[in-house]
Amino acid sequence: MNKIFLGILVYWLTCGTGTGTKAEQEVQPPHNQWSFESPLGTFDRGALQRGFQVYQEVCSTCHALDHLRYENLKDLGYTEAQIKVIASQHEVPGPLDDEGNPTKRPGKPEDHFVKPFPNEKAARAANNGAYPPDQSLVVKARKHEADYVKALLTGYTNPPQDMKMANGMYYNTYFPGHQIAMAPPLSPGQVKYADGTPSTVEQMAHDVVTFLAWAAEPTLEERKRMGVKVLSFLALFTIMMYIVMRRTWRNLKK
Ligand code: HEC
Repeated sequence: MNKIFLGILVYWLTCGTGTGTKAEQEVQPPHNQWSFESPLGTFDRGALQRGFQVYQEVCSTCHALDHLRYENLKDLGYTEAQIKVIASQHEVPGPLDDEGNPTKRPGKPEDHFVKPFPNEKAARAANNGAYPPDQSLVVKARKHEADYVKALLTGYTNPPQDMKMANGMYYNTYFPGHQIAMAPPLSPGQVKYADGTPSTVEQMAHDVVTFLAWAAEPTLEERKRMGVKVLSFLALFTIMMYIVMRRTWRNLKK
């Protein structure tokens, strides 16, 4: 009997109290109110534009957003003229010149977002060996999605005293394993928002995550609208069928 008790105690001490595995070190991110999460939710246009500004001024120095073209920004409420200006601020590879050398030209609306590094090796070399993932799907690709990415961006603190940090790594409460190669990317007042919103870290994180959620699923609003149409049709169809049934039975009962 004692042996069983001792066995359970040892098991509890070694496994049960969360002394080590990666899964146990995962900290649940707090839940946020996102404009796009309810069944009829849409993206908050102000947050989208501010989030794009944060991506453009901060994140895009390390993270690509490969599947987007500048012209897709019209979904965010930008006009064609504004998109032309945004695209032209980036340099993209142009045609070879007369001597066969590569050239650069200003971006056009139909160009894909410019990548910060020519290849993965160069990206790793600049980031302590770690690869800054393409952000096209990053919100969808992580458990807890938008809540996780926001918690990650705001979750940097000093490591606990007994934790040995590897060289060039930063402590983050929400990153699995807690050691991340991305330095805290946001600091208060880092971007000057075009609409005058105060740029706290919380605000910038909220906005950039809204933008990345749109980037991961630009057709979300269309999908939800379609859902509403289908449900309305089904509701109408049900009512019609009910009326037909009542009439049929009324005639039969006579
Ligand atoms: C100086 C370069 C740099 C900047 C700027 C930067 N990141 Fe990162 N980011 C990285 C690196 C490197 C990694 C990979 C970290 C690792 O695997 O340890 C990363 C990883 C991530 C991840 C994935 C975390 C995971 O769970 O795997 C997300 C999400 C992310 N960054 C979001 C952002 C956002 C949003 C911004 C802008 C506000 C940003 N990053 C700015 C370098 C950067």
